[in-house]
Amino acid sequence: MEKTKLWINGVWTDAQDVYTLTAPYSGEPIAKVAKASVEDVERAIDGAHKAFQSFKKTTAYERAEILYKVVDIMRGRKEELAKILASEAGKPLTTALTEIDRTISTYQFSAEAAKQSMGETVPLDAAPGTKDRIGYTKRVPIGVVSAITPFNFPFNLVSHKLGPAFAVGNTVVLKPATQTPLSALVMAEIFKDAGLPDGALQIVTGSGGELSDALVTHPLVKKVTFTGSSAVGLKIKEKVGLRKVTLELGSNSALIVEPSTPIEKVVSRCVGGAFGFSGQVCISLQRVYVHESIYEPFTKAFVEETKKLKLGDPLDPATDVSAMINPYEVERIKQWIEEAKAAGAVVATGGEFTERTLTPTVMTSVQPDMKIVCQETFAPIVSIVPYQTLDEAIALVNESDFGLNAGIYTNVLTDAMKAADEIEAGTVVINDIPTFRVDNMPYGGVKSSGYGREGVKYAIEEMTELKFITIKTTI
Ligand code: SIN
Repeated sequence: MEKTKLWINGVWTDAQDVYTLTAPYSGEPIAKVAKASVEDVERAIDGAHKAFQSFKKTTAYERAEILYKVVDIMRGRKEELAKILASEAGKPLTTALTEIDRTISTYQFSAEAAKQSMGETVPLDAAPGTKDRIGYTKRVPIGVVSAITPFNFPFNLVSHKLGPAFAVGNTVVLKPATQTPLSALVMAEIFKDAGLPDGALQIVTGSGGELSDALVTHPLVKKVTFTGSSAVGLKIKEKVGLRKVTLELGSNSALIVEPSTPIEKVVSRCVGGAFGFSGQVCISLQRVYVHESIYEPFTKAFVEETKKLKLGDPLDPATDVSAMINPYEVERIKQWIEEAKAAGAVVATGGEFTERTLTPTVMTSVQPDMKIVCQETFAPIVSIVPYQTLDEAIALVNESDFGLNAGIYTNVLTDAMKAADEIEAGTVVINDIPTFRVDNMPYGGVKSSGYGREGVKYAIEEMTELKFITIKTTI
């Protein structure tokens, strides 16, 4: 069985302890993974700080070349990378390949962003007495970035941290999710081959509060970027002090389906949004609000389409939906479904459990205060709810602690614009599901869904300091 090491200062380094990584679908052990100590994390941060002193002086051209090289290498290793992802995360192979393609495009956007202008000239003669002065802004790298990433997109959500950071000359200490270290560790090798200087990327694997505390409170860390649950995000926010922080957190994404919607054209897309990667996506479609005039045919078509999904081994190319990340999460969602059923909710299809899986589940007759509606399920489960007026639907969408992405299908422009204005979310998607993201768009939430934005250009703004230079042209 593979035994992994930590990636510290460009050297594969043994940890004193290891943990066993098991495959979510089979439960088979797949690797012994290095468990970093606080001292390992401190060494990684010190090393990243040292590497920053020279990396910050590289040119935009040099940094872009490294990122373009990463793109080339990944293009040549797509199938191999997708298999690593599929086996450790339980992500079906076809979905894993899509993630690798997206990761390549995130690094490509980062390479391009390295070369783009990141400043402006400010007209300093705009105030009285400021003749003969000019001024301009530039974005300067911030230093060591601590990046903590989740299991659900172990390549692409890592690339949303590494790509923008390296584009501007920051260095990074990365702690990938405990369940998906292998996808992160292979990136160490790829960046090394692409010419990234030793120390600019450090990877520490493992788990535990002490490790995370060291990553977010060390004095040499200047920025923390985290993707994960709202509960952990809040704890990080409380600890970072004056450091910059970006938090990409959860949601219970909603979609409004207005009466003008052609059901046959949208239903399979909606099913894909609800059950892709077993609903373990921050923008998974969790709540569908359907106008009462089309509620019955929509729900019937949704249930029929859901029944077509094939649950199985993630490495089988025919599999649509596989295991949830671990049996604890299966048990949690089982309890939430039981609670909802006891309070009157109906399972329209699905609801069958094994230790590791839940069949794609559609619920009806739900109430807003049920956990399967008001909390983030992060599981293959969706609720369909009828409404009478658009105002009522928007109020239901907003009746949530979260606000990441939301969607509306309508062919009435004024209704679309009303939803765009009134829905409380980081992104409103018109005529598509909320499970929509292109990797250069601003991405992030309001309320408990987060703080700050990713999407390469926007992440760069959050990973740099704005510096102003002013010149008096006469003395
Ligand atoms: C997430 O789960 O936050 C990422 C979703 C995506 O990138 O598609």
